[in-house]
Amino acid sequence: MSASFQMDTKTVMYGVFGDPVAQSKSPIMLNRAFQVRGINAAYAAFHIKPGTLGDAVRGIRALGFRGVNVTIPHKLEVMNYLDEIDEHARRIGAVNTIVNDGGRLIGFNTDGIGYVRSLKEETGLTLRGCRVLMLGAGGAARGVGYALAREGAARIWIANRTVSKAEELAGYLREYTQADGIGLDGIGAIRQEVDLIVNNTSVGMSPNVDETPIDTSWFHPSLTVSDLIYNPMETKLLREARLAGAKTHGGLGMFIYQGAYAFEYWTGQPAPVREMREAVEAALR
Ligand code: ATR
Repeated sequence: MSASFQMDTKTVMYGVFGDPVAQSKSPIMLNRAFQVRGINAAYAAFHIKPGTLGDAVRGIRALGFRGVNVTIPHKLEVMNYLDEIDEHARRIGAVNTIVNDGGRLIGFNTDGIGYVRSLKEETGLTLRGCRVLMLGAGGAARGVGYALAREGAARIWIANRTVSKAEELAGYLREYTQADGIGLDGIGAIRQEVDLIVNNTSVGMSPNVDETPIDTSWFHPSLTVSDLIYNPMETKLLREARLAGAKTHGGLGMFIYQGAYAFEYWTGQPAPVREMREAVEAALR
């Protein structure tokens, strides 16, 4: 936010609810967006501890916040406290964006569409017909898998440490495309069929930057490798993919676009994506 910004009685309030939340780059990114668009608004981080999420959501209504982002670990539970949930968010089973429409709280999920938009813009990959290996079967994988399937991915394998969770996610995605759940040891059998690998696990995230979720010795130039992690901006998985000649896609774009879609839902204005990205990159340096 610029030094000249003054909050006043007309300032519209926004925030992010998470636990932990101190590391979040959302305030820097969204305050920059409001500033660029000349909107009198302020966005802060709120540390919402277990057992207090319902009170916090009622606070959105009581205090007249226009919007809130929801992050780990509240994206599922928050659905219990909203007045309406957008169909895509309901299908994904998680909400990361709340719009306060005159006291009526509506939940959206901008993670999946944010991911796909950044993947297409940054790699030029055609998702229709694409064959995807997703690593991990947690909350992030659900939104990403849903978005990839709806974009026309021909087949999705989900490989996870806990195979039952991979099978469960595959069962849910089968409504949209051909999907299979496998163990990490099953990757060898399918790896030659894959066009795109997406890491949805936390393996490789700072401070554990020397880890990769899978063996990378077989990577080749016709692969695209994508990692949801954005700290570090280039994970070991992506570095090894790049050295093998593969196309790579880091997690920063997904973070920027999930915030950009939230901004657009709240304000009705196009998000200043370039300035948002610059603000986050400066904060990560
Ligand atoms: P998120 O909401 O970010 O997706 P999550 O729901 O906790 O977080 O999911 C984390 C994912 O990373 C899971 O797929 C997890 O595998 P399990 O289902 O077996 O727990 C995966 N993961 C985390 N640490 C891992 C590790 N050290 N090795 C392999 N997979 C790991």
